[in-house]
Amino acid sequence: MVLRSGLSLWQLRNAVLGALAVFLVLNAWIMTSTLQQQQQQLPRQVDPPCDVQRDELIQSMKVFNKVLLRQESLEAEISRSAVHDRQEKPCEDCSRTSLVDTDAARVWGKPRKAKGFLTIGIPTVKRDKDSRYLGTTLNSLIDTTSEAERDEVTIVIFLADFDSYYNKMLSLEIYRNYSQHLENGFMQVVQAPISFYPQLEGLKQNFNDAKDRVKWRSKQCVDYAFLFSYCRDLSEFYLQLEDDVVSSENYLTTIRTFMTAQTAAWSMLEFSELGFIGKLLRSSDLQRLADFLLLFYEEMPNDFLIRHFLKLLPHRETFVRRPSLFQHIGKHSSLVGKEQNLVDAFYVATLKRKYNDSDNPPAAVSTNMAAFGEYKPQLAYSTEPGFFWVEAPKSGQAFFVVFENSTRLSRIVIETGSEEHPKDVLEKGTLEASPRLLSVNQTGDNTPNCADYAQIGTFENGRLEVATTSREGVGSLEVKCLKVTLTEDQKMWILVREIAVWTVKKEIRKERRKMFLVM
Ligand SMILES: *[C@@H]1O[C@H](CO)[C@@H](O)[C@H](O)[C@H]1NC(C)=O
Ligand SMILES: *[C@@H]1O[C@H](CO)[C@@H](O)[C@H](O)[C@H]1NC(C)=O
Ligand SMILES: *[C@@H]1O[C@H](CO)[C@@H](O)[C@H](O)[C@H]1NC(C)=O
Ligand SMILES: *[C@@H]1O[C@H](CO)[C@@H](O)[C@H](O)[C@H]1NC(C)=O
Repeated sequence: MVLRSGLSLWQLRNAVLGALAVFLVLNAWIMTSTLQQQQQQLPRQVDPPCDVQRDELIQSMKVFNKVLLRQESLEAEISRSAVHDRQEKPCEDCSRTSLVDTDAARVWGKPRKAKGFLTIGIPTVKRDKDSRYLGTTLNSLIDTTSEAERDEVTIVIFLADFDSYYNKMLSLEIYRNYSQHLENGFMQVVQAPISFYPQLEGLKQNFNDAKDRVKWRSKQCVDYAFLFSYCRDLSEFYLQLEDDVVSSENYLTTIRTFMTAQTAAWSMLEFSELGFIGKLLRSSDLQRLADFLLLFYEEMPNDFLIRHFLKLLPHRETFVRRPSLFQHIGKHSSLVGKEQNLVDAFYVATLKRKYNDSDNPPAAVSTNMAAFGEYKPQLAYSTEPGFFWVEAPKSGQAFFVVFENSTRLSRIVIETGSEEHPKDVLEKGTLEASPRLLSVNQTGDNTPNCADYAQIGTFENGRLEVATTSREGVGSLEVKCLKVTLTEDQKMWILVREIAVWTVKKEIRKERRKMFLVM
């Protein structure tokens, strides 16, 4: 009892002393902080009156403006004198915090210590079973990259599907098939944390896109941002591919040659004409581009955004290499289900050729119309997927087909408009044929100057067809140039879906001559 009560008294004394100490410390703290606040407030009470303050502010704004103006003119002078020998500085000192935890993102593969020459980024998502081409893409890259070149190239496969079970299965398959390449740094497999993705539901429906499509293309912007951010320090340059393309022989040598052949500063080199396939960027631009994509991810498709971004880089241009080094092989879009056909608006690969039996002998297709984005005239003629899209067409403008060798034609079909853009048809226009090429406009748009044009057809309901079984009309001509001229201004754009021509076969010609003789 005694011991216990003595103890509790002792405890009580300690508690009281403790509380007193805390109270004193608190008091002291409150007093000092109040004093400090008062001191801070003191000068405010002697602030100059409002109009004096305003005058001072205006004065300092004037000075500031002058400084800015002087700097601007200085910068303009500097850039004027040094546009050509301008050195591209790497962005290492831009003190950006990386958006991506690279170690956490890596599923397989060993990063290299030294920076390589090229990183190839390949995002991959789930598709129909019979339309998965990732293995074909990877094998093609392995086959076309020599042993020595593999030390300077890193292929980064990005498992971009939200289905984590699918990703796991695919990553195991990749590990089984390519363990040796993963070990030596030629390949890496990465995955993004779900927390990297911003809101993807209920976004703006720009371009009249359906909800599913908006979600699909917005996610793709974020996918790209992740991949760019992951790859920014791996090498000097970055090449974007998809999981359904194949590469051509010696692609790396061709890239180097094309790069050194450039005399002007560039921001992007294009080694394929389609979407965002085969585009080569400087790694030092990747982080800024990733930030840009994340900022505007819901506004428009990634390839449009990237073109906007590139326009913001002054004194730099993009250059296209022809022919392409990378060929698209996928037929099914990664946007599944009933919305699939909507993808076609921007995804050319799903648009099949209607006249797949036409001859289309080698020819150059050119125009003085404004081709929209990547939708160049050649795409309407070649068997590569795609179409030619004309922005703001004007009366008098034309597009041309110039055959490598003059040829006799038995049928010509030109179709405009598509299921997705049924109103983008050529409303009023003519087709002319010429036997003789005089010259090609080398300085401008490569349009031909041909002699002795004869009109052989007109457009009706956005379509033109000329066919002959006799040696009349088009059948009587050795055609060198075809010219389609717009004869009236029109409000709608023109989507030239297909230009198909059939040549008169030698045997048929002989037969006809025989018939002629008999007659
Ligand atoms: C892995 O190899 C198997 C068998 O050769 C093949 O069927 C599959 O497509 C390959 N997968 C990948 C992702 O390369
Ligand atoms: C060409 O088109 C026809 C009809 O559209 C189709 O039946 C045929 O398989 C196609 N041929 C090729 C080689 O794609
Ligand atoms: C065009 O004609 C030349 C000379 O006759 C020939 O060598 C060439 O193969 C021809 N090209 C095509 C695409 O027929
Ligand atoms: C050549 O092309 C340029 C640019 O499109 C154009 O301004 C010029 O008039 C063309 N020259 C001829 C002879 O058509």
